[in-house]
Amino acid sequence: MRTHYCGQLRAEHIGTKVTLFGWIDRRRDHGGVIFLDLRDRSGIVQIASDPERTPVAYGHAEGLRNEYVVKVVGKVCERPIDSRNPKLSTGEVEIDADEIELLNGVRKQLPFQISTAEVETVREELRLKYRYLDLRRERMAQNLQLRHQVIKTIRRFLEDDQGFMEVETPILTRSTPEGARDYLVPSRVNPGDWFALPQSPQLFKQLLMVAGCDRYYQIARCFRDEDLRADRQPEFTQLDMEMSFMSMEEVLSLNEELVCHIFQHVKGISLPRPFPRLTYGEAMDRYGSDKPDTRFGLQLVDVTTLLTNSGFKVFTEAIAKGGLVKILPIPGGNSTISNVRIKPGGDLFQEAAGAGAKGLAYIRVRENGEIDTIGAIKDNLNWEQKQELLKRTNAQPGDLLLFACGAAHRVNKILDRLRLSIGKELGLIDTRLINLLWITDFPMFEWNEDELRLEALHHPFTAPHPNQRHDLKTSHALAYDLVFNGFEVGGGSLRIYQPDLQAQVFATIGLSEQEVNEKFGFLLEAFEYGTPPHGGIAYGIDRLVMLLAGEESIRDVIPFPKTQQARCLLTAAPSGVDDQQLRELQVASTHQRKLKTQPSPPS
Ligand code: AMO
Repeated sequence: MRTHYCGQLRAEHIGTKVTLFGWIDRRRDHGGVIFLDLRDRSGIVQIASDPERTPVAYGHAEGLRNEYVVKVVGKVCERPIDSRNPKLSTGEVEIDADEIELLNGVRKQLPFQISTAEVETVREELRLKYRYLDLRRERMAQNLQLRHQVIKTIRRFLEDDQGFMEVETPILTRSTPEGARDYLVPSRVNPGDWFALPQSPQLFKQLLMVAGCDRYYQIARCFRDEDLRADRQPEFTQLDMEMSFMSMEEVLSLNEELVCHIFQHVKGISLPRPFPRLTYGEAMDRYGSDKPDTRFGLQLVDVTTLLTNSGFKVFTEAIAKGGLVKILPIPGGNSTISNVRIKPGGDLFQEAAGAGAKGLAYIRVRENGEIDTIGAIKDNLNWEQKQELLKRTNAQPGDLLLFACGAAHRVNKILDRLRLSIGKELGLIDTRLINLLWITDFPMFEWNEDELRLEALHHPFTAPHPNQRHDLKTSHALAYDLVFNGFEVGGGSLRIYQPDLQAQVFATIGLSEQEVNEKFGFLLEAFEYGTPPHGGIAYGIDRLVMLLAGEESIRDVIPFPKTQQARCLLTAAPSGVDDQQLRELQVASTHQRKLKTQPSPPS
């Protein structure tokens, strides 16, 4: 039987006889004594094998190679002071091996070195293909452990302190409108019909409130077929919650308590409460983003009213169309950011162009206070206007002002991107800070330019402010997002629980009565039978753990993630299926047919 995990051993265990199991992280032959770094999921401890004292164990140690699986029996000893390893938590001790037993070897060449001593240079594709080896590495093992701790802490808090009940909801279900494409599963027994994998348990958790569940939570797997980024996976995990009979303030307060509990238990950090709040309007105005990274300044300044009658056509035309002109002021930017970078071909220009900018007008405030601009902005803004711009932006000698103009969403996107990249570049972000804030007062709807209709900003079950129901189109939602250092880690709302109001919201987003009945008839019907006022939230567990772990991609905190191309390199999924399987499902693949009917290339 194992007596300890390797990483647990400390000076207090000196003299204890231990039995350990693990992998050989490294073997070093020090002319006589062999040192083995033995690794298990908890960490590493050094094993010393002496040929004089235990020749049999030594004989076994000689044959060991990296990643062999062994059992070691021995005594915990104090390491001589000069050979202690301060980098290891077990660095004060080593195990004097009495027995070393080889349990299994390695039969193939390792695709990469796993040892903690190796510098991490392995390509991600290789790590994902051999994920079971990658997960042996210390960093990954710690991330898995952290993820486990976070989920365990959540369960304990919600169940034991707050009376929540975990309820499972179906994976084979109908489409839930969270705004992404669905993953679909054909039904063999109902040919032609399809299940959708849940984008979230939204509808079921609301039905659970109708069912009287009162306080529901679930560690829920969600599926969204959308373009992937470092913080998005097609399959991800939510902490999903729903509560009856709670006001928005009560929901936010309970959630702050939960988040503080997680930080306290997992990181030993006590967060100040209440969390700051920004309305959606303020966040967009000041940061150009509804998930602002507030660890640094560089706030945007709206100068639209000042430039409505300027002589600069690009600005006036944009404003006439209902657009904005905003400035990103960069303290000291005159010397740190060259013209080359702002002009076409430059990296900042590219960054802005990627968000839809056609050009980047600027004002430089020279150290002597002189204003320097180029092109149209130089000739078309008069001295007073330029002085007023400096005043509004509180610009000082040495500053740089970058302009964006056009439709509000584009201006905000451009300046948000520039703000983040310049903030990072100038080292303005204190990475030790933990900035959590609520974003509130989202508009209920936003205009979908492609489909020329309003769509729900969150989802169509979100309740409007009670005093704005007379004009739903312009109303704000009782919705809230939790932002952590510039990432949206959670979002939720109070819900509509009146069938007539729900029907009005569906009508506002252009759903016909027939569509509503087909897609959500069951929900509207449920609302007829005594539905409690309710609301909830869902957290992206992967994003939360990523930030707690200090990682930059959620792939590093998901045991078996997909690549950016939504593939699992380990199992080679998704993959083709037998024609027979497709026939049974009564499904035909147009893709395959196309391949088959493609003319063969001329010989
Ligand atoms: P929402 O769509 O905002 O809300 O999702 C909640 C949280 O889930 C995380 N998230 C993701 N994480 C990884 N990969 C993805 N593709 C992904 N998409 C979302 C984010 C996000 O804040 N039903 C509502 C919640 C509610 O109203 O109660 C919902 O799903 O961290």
